[in-house]
Amino acid sequence: RAEEKVTVHFLNRDGKRITGKALTGESLLDVVVNNDLDIDGFGACEGTLACSTCHLIFEEAVYKKLGAVSDEEMDMLDLAYGLSDTSRLGCQVCLRKDLDGMILRVPDVISDARVDSEKESST
Ligand code: FES
Repeated sequence: RAEEKVTVHFLNRDGKRITGKALTGESLLDVVVNNDLDIDGFGACEGTLACSTCHLIFEEAVYKKLGAVSDEEMDMLDLAYGLSDTSRLGCQVCLRKDLDGMILRVPDVISDARVDSEKESST
């Protein structure tokens, strides 16, 4: 097994830093869910690229390491509030050893693209 633990810090909306760990290959959504991190509304569509509540803002140097954004992610990112040049959707970013210790900012406001259409279909 080549899996390794990666540590990720989140700067939450209240200014507090919260930290989670996950294995390489897991997504940032996995980090939040598996560590039970208290980020309100995060990951509402469970990683199916339907909500943009997993919007996170990266440090520029880290962002550059992440690689290409898919068209599907881009479309959903466009719907996120407070979009920045270094925004990504957390459910689409997988952990790598070289991302260990990165700090991500949680945007102040989230938007859930599904709220208007189908509110009750989370399972
Ligand atoms: Fe919904 Fe990432 S969790 S788009």
